[in-house]
Amino acid sequence: MGIDHLSLTVEQFMEATKKARDNAYVPYSGFKVGAVVLDSQGRLHHGCNVENAAYGPTNCAERTALFRAVADGCMPRTFQAIAVIGDTDLPITPCGVCRQVMVELCDPDMPVILGNLQGAYRVTTVSELLPGAFTSRDLNS
Ligand code: THU
Repeated sequence: MGIDHLSLTVEQFMEATKKARDNAYVPYSGFKVGAVVLDSQGRLHHGCNVENAAYGPTNCAERTALFRAVADGCMPRTFQAIAVIGDTDLPITPCGVCRQVMVELCDPDMPVILGNLQGAYRVTTVSELLPGAFTSRDLNS
């Protein structure tokens, strides 16, 4: 599934992720990440990474945005897309935990737009990011 049908341009989407990134709380890594979920009604849900002195409780930007969208009342698997940005040479690539959370909360064909601060981006999908994921279907089989 492409991104041509989305209600905002890639440039507008990535601009929103930059704003989300500004709020990152990163006293340990100094590595700010921003993510934005576009919901079925065209609303944006911003997320940033939020770190912790114990490291493990750190929440990535992608999960913050997705959890926020759910907390804001969105039904899981109804999102149009998620976009992520970081200060990386190539477009940022989500961690394994965030990929698993995307599998849980998003449609497998949902577009995921990965970008960097230089304006490079690549479009992929949830299922491309985590092929063979463990899902509720496995749990119930
Ligand atoms: N991080 C994200 O928020 N998203 C990613 O896609 C990659 C990594 C965060 C976690 C941690 O706060 C920092 O970046 C360094 O790993």
